[in-house]
Amino acid sequence: MVCLGNICRSPLAEGILREKVTLKGLDWMVDSAGTGAWHIGNLPDPRSIAIAKKKGIDITHQQARQLRAEDLKMFDLVLAMDRSNYQNILQLSKSEEESKKVKLIMNYAYPNEDRVVPDPYWNDDGFEEVFQMLDLACNQLIKAHT
Ligand code: 4NP
Repeated sequence: MVCLGNICRSPLAEGILREKVTLKGLDWMVDSAGTGAWHIGNLPDPRSIAIAKKKGIDITHQQARQLRAEDLKMFDLVLAMDRSNYQNILQLSKSEEESKKVKLIMNYAYPNEDRVVPDPYWNDDGFEEVFQMLDLACNQLIKAHT
C-alpha cells in the first residue's frame, strides 16, 4: 500500500487489509510505504490511528518508511492511493513485469474508473471517507485474488 507520506492513507490501508487477511486466514504479506521521505520512522498520523481504533483496528505498531525499488521485485501487488503516487511508483519499476504490479487501489472497487483516495492530510473530516473507501477496496481486492 503506497501513498505520499506513509502516515495517513497507506498505513490505514495496511491495517485494514491485514485485519481482513488475518480474519480470512490468508498467508499474505501486507506492508505500506510512502513515495516521499519526510516522515520516515514516524507513527501513523493521530487521525489515522483514531479512525482505525474506532473501527477496531490497531495501527500503532506501524512506522513510516520510503518505498524502494526492491519492493517492486518482492511484492506481487503495489497499490497506489492516487495518480501521483502511481506515477512515482512506476518510476522505480525496472521491467514490464514490475510495472504491471502497480495499480490504483480504488480500481478494485470501481474497475477502470481510476478513482483516487483523496489525501486527508489537510482535512480533518476526510479520514472517515478514506477509511470507507479503503475498506470497500480491500474487500474487493481479497475477492479478486482468492
Ligand atoms: P499520506 O498523507 O500521503 O496519505 O500519508 C500525507 C502526509 C503528509 C504529507 C502529505 C500527505 N506531507 O506533506 O507531509
